[in-house]
Amino acid sequence: MNNEAIRCEDLVKTYNLGQVNEYKALKGINLTIKEGDFISIIGSSGSGKSTLLNLISCLDTPTSGEVYVDGTALSKLGDNERAKLRSQKLGFIFQQFNLLRGMTAYENIELAMRFAGKTKKERHERVQELLKQVGLENKGKNRPTQMSGGEQQRVAIARALANNPRIILGDEPTGNLDSATGATIMQLLTELNKDQNKTLVMVTHDPAIAKKAHRTVRIKDGKLEEEKRGALIENGNGSNG
Ligand SMILES: Nc1ncnc2c1ncn2[C@@H]1O[C@H](COP(=O)(O)OP(=O)(O)O)[C@@H](O)[C@H]1O
Ligand SMILES: [Mg+2]
Repeated sequence: MNNEAIRCEDLVKTYNLGQVNEYKALKGINLTIKEGDFISIIGSSGSGKSTLLNLISCLDTPTSGEVYVDGTALSKLGDNERAKLRSQKLGFIFQQFNLLRGMTAYENIELAMRFAGKTKKERHERVQELLKQVGLENKGKNRPTQMSGGEQQRVAIARALANNPRIILGDEPTGNLDSATGATIMQLLTELNKDQNKTLVMVTHDPAIAKKAHRTVRIKDGKLEEEKRGALIENGNGSNG
């Protein structure tokens, strides 16, 4: 068994801005995340948090360096293999929920499973189970516009869990929610970590999330530093941006 969920080796990401300008968003990130861990990634706005998460999520490719997911080097995979790894091993939650507007809660969750080749019956059973798990058994027919922000994020969590991935990645998942709703969403995510040993990687501005995590790292000037637990709790200071 590989007990390393994710490993980033010397990750560099440079964005090209026209012909001559470039911006070094990540300047050599080394990070190992253990299976079953709950890590928060903090840092001021524009520090490179989303950039790092997008590289781990195979949404973008690094300028140099390597990301390993469950021991597999992402750069060695072809497009199809990468898509397969994403759908089997990773689940994503975004600040803007990113649900498809024209689809119901049920259909949004089911869609993730269609790509994984599940039968209609399997999909139906799984969607019902997931709706129940996130406390939305009566909202399957609602479209995103007919749900509150907290409910939409629950649908997004159910969708992220659809193919039973071992790793859940969130980019400021409570960023668009009021603090009480954010807390219930965090509760749900914390339970997935505790009860099902899912690895949680949460980018956040929210000190309350950072405090719940087992480990916190900060991105600053394109580099990563380990955050001391004491400092975080004393200052209540998860971020400055
Ligand atoms: N596609 C892009 N092209 C050019 N610059 C980008 C691009 N995406 C992000 N950046 C820049 O990289 C830096 C890090 O961005 P990001 O990772 O989104 O920060 P964070 O999520 O921490 O707020 C910012 O300065 C941002 O302007
Ligand atoms: Mg961001």
